[in-house]
Parts: sequence; C-alpha cells; structure tokens
Amino acid sequence: MKVRRLLFPLVCVMVLWCSSLTVQAAGHGQDRPVKKGILLVAFGSSEPSAQISFEKIGQAVQNQYPDIPVQWAYTSHIIRQKLARQGKHLDSPEVALARMMDEKFTHVAVQSLHTIPGSEFHDLRRTIEGFRLMGGFTQIVLGDPLMATQSDLEKIVAAIFSSIPEQRKKADAVVLMGHGTHHPANAFYAALMFQLQLQDPLVYVGVVEGYPEVWLIRDLLRKQRVKTAYLMPLMSVAGDHAKNDMAGDDPDSWTSVLSASGINCIPILKGTAEFDAFVAIWVDHLAASLRQLE
Ligand code: CO
Repeated sequence: MKVRRLLFPLVCVMVLWCSSLTVQAAGHGQDRPVKKGILLVAFGSSEPSAQISFEKIGQAVQNQYPDIPVQWAYTSHIIRQKLARQGKHLDSPEVALARMMDEKFTHVAVQSLHTIPGSEFHDLRRTIEGFRLMGGFTQIVLGDPLMATQSDLEKIVAAIFSSIPEQRKKADAVVLMGHGTHHPANAFYAALMFQLQLQDPLVYVGVVEGYPEVWLIRDLLRKQRVKTAYLMPLMSVAGDHAKNDMAGDDPDSWTSVLSASGINCIPILKGTAEFDAFVAIWVDHLAASLRQLE
C-alpha cells in the first residue's frame, strides 16, 4: 500500500517530464530528420575561364557524394558584386549558411576551396563559429584549404610534378604563381618551394602579393642561367591574375619581367582545380569532414 502510494506520484512526474521533453524537442526542432549538406566556398572569380575549375570540383564532389546536396558560396565581396552586375547571383558564406539553416539542413560540411589558410579561410572559420554558437545546425564542420598540413604539402608537391607539361626539358624552369597575402600563412609558399626544390632545383614559387616576389624569382633564374621558364598559376582558377599578372603584356607582368631578362616564357593558363591531382586533395579534406558528421 505504502509503495503504491509513493509510486503513483512518481509515475505522474515521470510522464509529465517526458511529455514536456517531447514538446520541447518538437518546439526546438531537435528531433527533425537528419539532412546533410555540403557548402563549397571559393574566393570566387568573375572570369568565364575560371568556371572550368569550379565545375570540375563541383562534379568531383557530386560524384563522390551523389546523395548530398552541394551548394556554393564565394568569399570575395568584390567578385560577388561584379557577378551581380552580370545578373549572376552568388551567396556569401553567411547568406548561404543562413539559407541552409532555413532549408532545415541539420549537418553541414563546409569545404574551403582556398589554397592556403589565410584571411579568407579564417574569416570563414569565424562565420562557422557564429553558426555553431547560434545552434543553427546539429553539426557544422569546416574542411581545410588545399595546403594546411605537412601531409598536404607532400601531396601538393606530387600534384605539381604531375601537372608540369611533358615537353618541359630538364634545364627549363617551372615558376608557379601563388596569390600571396599579408597573413602569416604566406609562409606556406616559401615552404612549398623548399620542398619542391628538394626534388627539382628548377621549380620556383612566387606570389603576386607578398613574398617571394617576382624580382627575387627572376634573380634566382638568372643565377641558374635559365633560358626557358614554364609559368603556371598556383591558384584554383586561371582567372584575372593568371591572365594579366602572369601572362599579360603589361611591363610588370611576370612574362614581361622574365622576358626582359632574356628568359623565354611559356605561360600555362590552367588553374590547379583543373587537375585531378589537386581536386583530390580538396575532396579528401571534405571526406574527412563528412566522416566527422557520422
Ligand atoms: Co587577387
């Protein structure tokens, strides 16, 4: 009798507590169905030639994960404005994530398509942290850009050697053009050059903005008495920098600067994302994020 008298209110409290949990869960969407999504985030480009790169990455990701919707965002405000004037709408990562939240995505893997973990990548990281604090998704993870670890650098070295044109002769130099940045991650470029040169002393890495600049690369090529140099962008797309700063006719383009020193330049207008070996590195980083979501 005593036990029954105690048990009854206890059961009542339990039932009430459980039902309040269900209401809470429904109200806060905690029991909503799992909906996974991928957000690919690039710096962006307004050059039509750059689209080949984006299509290639998008296709590789969709082939690998046919059941997960893939969305895009560009981090560059200037590029988004330029595209908007052409009638093409592209989201910022903030807008894309807010929309995915609204579309009831629960698990999101954001993949940076940047080359180094510079300001663009760290801004993206802060954005994602904001969504995490807001509780916008059950889970949201960010994948590393192309080069973030020593293991990435080793894969990139291999990818670079596999993308050098076959007709390049041993005495010809290969000059890669990175973007460069004021961010400390700029050090990756010189680190990459060091590791490339352990295998082939005539492969160089310079950047448009920062160090090592083209004048230093020119002096190094002169010292080695290089006669011919292949110029290749170390950027996901062969956009404005590749076309103008690398291969353009302006007196300060890399082709002009090196040609003025008697070096015959062969510019290759292909972004890294046009080569499978580079795309595979980004896709691997995304795969690592998606494994965390499971
Ligand atoms: Co730029």
